[in-house]
Formats: sequence, structure tokens, C-alpha cells
Amino acid sequence: MSDFFVNLGRKPLARKVIQTLGLPVPMPQYLARGGGPWTERFLKGETVVVGHLPGAGLAQVLATSLWNTGATLFVEGSEAQCACYTAQGEASLLRGDGLPEETRPRALVFDATGIEGAQDLRKVYAFFHDLIKKGTPCGRMIVVSRPPSAYEKPEAAAAARALEGFVRSMAREAGRKGTTAQTVYVKEDAGDRLEPVLRFLLSTHAAYISGQPIHLSAMVAAPSPMPYVRPLDGKTALVTGAARGIGAATARALAREGACVLCVDRPGESALTEKVAAEINGKAFACDITDADAPEKVSNYITETFGGLDIVVHNAGVTRDKTLGNMDEARWDMVLGVNLIGLIALNEGLLPLLNDSGRIICLSSVGGISGNAGQTNYAASKAGVIGYVQALAPSLVTRAIAINAVAPGFIETAMTAAMPFGTREVARRLCNLSQGGLPEDVAEMVTFLASPGAAGLTGQVLRVCGGNYVGA
Ligand code: NAI
Repeated sequence: MSDFFVNLGRKPLARKVIQTLGLPVPMPQYLARGGGPWTERFLKGETVVVGHLPGAGLAQVLATSLWNTGATLFVEGSEAQCACYTAQGEASLLRGDGLPEETRPRALVFDATGIEGAQDLRKVYAFFHDLIKKGTPCGRMIVVSRPPSAYEKPEAAAAARALEGFVRSMAREAGRKGTTAQTVYVKEDAGDRLEPVLRFLLSTHAAYISGQPIHLSAMVAAPSPMPYVRPLDGKTALVTGAARGIGAATARALAREGACVLCVDRPGESALTEKVAAEINGKAFACDITDADAPEKVSNYITETFGGLDIVVHNAGVTRDKTLGNMDEARWDMVLGVNLIGLIALNEGLLPLLNDSGRIICLSSVGGISGNAGQTNYAASKAGVIGYVQALAPSLVTRAIAINAVAPGFIETAMTAAMPFGTREVARRLCNLSQGGLPEDVAEMVTFLASPGAAGLTGQVLRVCGGNYVGA
């Protein structure tokens, strides 16, 4: 369903008039989205400014990562930190006189590893304070830190945690320009997991991810190589609920990056499922995931057709809303049956078929984090998905398999088009970016998590919610 204000905001004159008249919420910025496949030097022609705390230790990783994007770099830091950048090519050093007048950075990146206490936050403030107004619309801001738990001294842990509050607020402010901001916490031994994550967050594929803390660990072995383009070449993926909405968008995105996709949906949706599968040169399989023999039937089909599996996306989901006192057992059983019980049963059935370095992605929801009136069944099921992912992750690391949950916020699909007008309008605006996301936004996050480069993430919940005010 199209959003009147987002469409109007594409016309500069209309945008100016409406902003002058004043809206109760910011006029949404039309977001620059990825569209096409991953490319190697996706920031060619764009400027990135990168800063460091004096004791920050990720300059080498950041230098390599940012150089590989093709961006023009401006660097602020100690001589040793700046040397990491200049050793690889021409980088301009910022020495007090700031950026050239006409330069508009696409991204600001700050290395806050080595933070020692609240006094160091002043330097983080100063970096973004000086540059935030210069950024282009739909820009990116990223702060990298060690996780608070990595610091022995409480004042250092406090400062590391303070970064998250700073970034979340910065993301709320910058959202009116379509700009996003995230904190990436990198464990000491997980520096080599940072580059793919940075590339994804800096790209237009991450347009609807805002105000997220992301935690990188070395729990799951990182495969080599972690390709920049066609990361899913040669991989086999299964997507449930692939007939439409987020599932169909995910099947298309996985195929775009090279995967052969098996699209699973209910028998009643066969025509749509087959259409999606044909479009992406994949396979369709009709199956209700709540059937007792569903795990066996799907597993047999995979064994016969592909031999094994690399990626599983548990996307099939339903809502049956009613306030608790009015909710009959059928609604409860239906939602729990598909969203949680069916998901777990199918996953357990598929685990023996999953190849080493496999990826499992389970669709949760912001509703599963925050709760929602009229959705005790849905929120229970989606919170249960988070519990499952977190509990299962450690047991899969010996096979280098990562499992994560994705929690979409308000996404423009058939599910949300069915909402009453007023509720839908409010739900759309209540996020940093003042608009709903698209199925493709969720699909891009799932595709990243399915890629070899997502080895740094497991047992996590990644929100694709535009920085939703609910449940953050
Ligand atoms: P949708 O209703 O458009 O598509 C869901 C698909 O799942 C349908 O094709 C349906 O046939 C399939 N499905 C349902 N029950 C099934 C079963 N028993 N066996 C096999 N397939 C089954 O939903 P949408 O909006 O694309 O959502 C996809 C996922 O994202 C769901 O898990 C949903 O809960 C979650 N989500 C969606 C949000 C949104 O704003 N649209 C927000 C948060 C989470």
C-alpha cells in the first residue's frame, strides 16, 4: 500500500509547502534503497569521514574496510591511526580546519574502542556535532566500540553503554533526513567480522535499519572468503511463507545474490508460490508447516532434490488479533501453531540436513519485544522465537552455523494494509524515519544474515523497524 506523505515528499515543492505548513511529525524522506545486487565499490564517488578516540584500536580494520568500498576518505585521529589509511592510498587528514566547504559526507564512522570513561564521550560528541549537519540525506552514522562487558572498570563500561544511548538519540534526530545510525559492539577477537557488517550497514540495502546496537563475536567460525558480490553463489536456501509479502521478497533477494531457493507455502497458495519460484529459477513445495508430517515431507524433498541445505528462513507467520478476554482457543492455537510450534518442529527436522557454516533466520516481530494490545498470542509466539534463537545458538557453533532472529516493525504488506486507517497512519509515523518499511527492507537484512560475512552474529535479534519508538 502506497504512503501518501512519502510520495508527496519526493516532490521538492510540495515538500517545502507542507513543511512550512507544519506537520505534527517530520515529513518523511524518500529513502535511497538498494534495489540491485551487492557491488564491490558501492561508495565510489561518496565521502566518508572517520574519526578515532586516541586509544582506539580498530583503525587498521576500518581503513581496509572503508578503502574497499571505494569511498573518498577523510580521517581524524592520531598519526599512527591516520597512517593506517594513508598506507593504503590517498586519504585526507582532518587537522582542526574541518571538511572542505562543499564536501557532503555520505557516512560518518567513529572508532570508540578503548573508551576509558565518560570524559571520552566528549570526543564522540565533538566529532558528530561538527559534521552531522553536513551529511547528505539518507546518510549513515556508525559508532564502533568494545561491548560494555569487555571493560573491567565500571566507568569504562558505563561510557561504552552510553554510546548506545547517544547513537539511538542521534538516529532519532537524523531520521528526518532519512539518515540512520547504529552502534556496533565488537568483541576483542571479532575484529575480522567487522568489515562485512560495516559494508552492509553503509549500503543502501540497510535503508530501514536505524538505532540498532549490533554485537559481534567470534563464536561462529568465519568462512574464507567472505565475498563482496554474489555472496550466496552455490548455496541452497529454503524460505517458508514465500508466496507473498516478506517471504516472496526474501526469496527474490536470496536468488539475486546467487542462491537456489526452495519456496514453501500452504497448498492453498500454490499458484502464487510457483509463480515466485519460476521467476527466480527456484523450486516450489506446497506444505502447511503445522502438519505433523511437514518436517519429514520437506526434508525428504530437500534430500532428493538438493542433497542438503545452507540457509533456512522461517518466515511463515499469521496474526489472529483479539483482546485476551475475547480470544478463543482457535485463535491462540492457530498463531502459536504456525509462528512458534511449527517453526521449531520444522527447524528440528531440517537441522540434520543443514551444511556446516549454515545460516538460520527466524522472523520475529517488534511486537514480540514490546507486546501489543490484542496480540497476546502473536507477541507470545514472536517472543518465543527470540527465546528459541538465543537458546539454540550456542549448540550450533561447533558446526559454524549461525541462527538469528529478525524483528520487523511496521512493514507495508497485506498484513498491515488490513489495519484501520488511523491505526496504520500512527504506526507508520512512530519511527525515526516516519514511514513504514517495505518487504524488501526485511529481505535485505535476511539476505545479509544468510551470507558468509554474517559469521559475527549469532543468537541475536536484529530489528528492521526504521527505529520504531515501540519496544526499543
Ligand atoms: P503475509 O501474511 O503477507 O505472508 C505470510 C505467508 O506465510 C503467507 O504466504 C502464508 O500463506 C504463509 N503461511 C501462513 N501460515 C502458513 C503455514 N501454516 N504453512 C506454510 N505457510 C504459511 O505476512 P508478511 O507480512 O509477509 O509477514 C512475514 C513474516 O514477518 C511473518 O512471520 C510475520 O509475523 C512477520 N512480521 C511482519 C510484519 C509486517 O509488518 N508485515 C511485522 C513484524 C513481523
